[in-house]
Amino acid sequence: MTARWDPRLYLAYESERARPFIDLVMRILTHPRTIVDLGCGPGHLSAVLLDRWPDATVLGVDSSPEMVAQARRDAAGPQVSYALGDLATWAPPVPVDLVISNAAFQWVPDQLEVVPRLRDHVAPEGVLAFQVPDNHHEPNHVLLREIAGRAPYAKHTAGLALTRSVSPATYLDLLADDAWDLDVWGTTYYHVLEGEDPVYRWISGTGARPVLEALPPGLREDFEAEYKAALREAYPTRSYGTVLPFPRSFVVAKRR
Ligand SMILES: C[S@@+](CC[C@H](N)C(=O)[O-])C[C@H]1O[C@@H](n2cnc3c(N)ncnc32)[C@H](O)[C@@H]1O
Repeated sequence: MTARWDPRLYLAYESERARPFIDLVMRILTHPRTIVDLGCGPGHLSAVLLDRWPDATVLGVDSSPEMVAQARRDAAGPQVSYALGDLATWAPPVPVDLVISNAAFQWVPDQLEVVPRLRDHVAPEGVLAFQVPDNHHEPNHVLLREIAGRAPYAKHTAGLALTRSVSPATYLDLLADDAWDLDVWGTTYYHVLEGEDPVYRWISGTGARPVLEALPPGLREDFEAEYKAALREAYPTRSYGTVLPFPRSFVVAKRR
């Protein structure tokens, strides 16, 4: 079962979620005319692409009907379009100048096979660029797996497809190739979040969705209470807010 996305909940942390995309885009030093954004989500990042490359056409591809509908409603201009599709099987009619993806590959179970194949869709001297959370070992994800894996939740959550992160070093090993110039790095962001249970609010819009949707009413509320309490302990509130450290992997691969 694929858990549904709620674009409104996802966009609650719009500026924090946009930051790594902007950092990724700033490291792309080519001038693409054709851009495809895989796992584009609600489309709010298309404006970043057009700001940097105003003459480009942008196609956003996403497998969530809710995300594609939101993206079409808010489309940043006539050069931008959106399509429903699976990035694992997506193929353009002709290779494109820039294939970009932000915070999507962690949802693809066989991403270590899919990501290298995406290079086939990049034009000569074009770029494959992506950012993926590297947070599998962060407390919010460890606690999610631990609590969801215990009784009475385990029988509803067994076998769920949760996110998988990949380190910068693994991407380097995976993609090192004489025909490509690689720029690979990792960054940890320290997001300062406001309000009550902000780490829960953050992850309930993304990584925790499959667990929350799999639990029946009643049990879901019990899980939420247990998980929120554990997150409050792992991420104490300080005088200025709650700090969510968030490591991420980045790759810019340019075809020679
Ligand atoms: C965390 S959101 C990122 C959205 C946007 N790129 C951003 O950075 O804000 C992950 C997105 O990846 C999409 N996604 C997950 N698996 C996908 C797949 N196999 N094919 C296409 N999109 C996928 C989800 O529907 C969701 O919109």
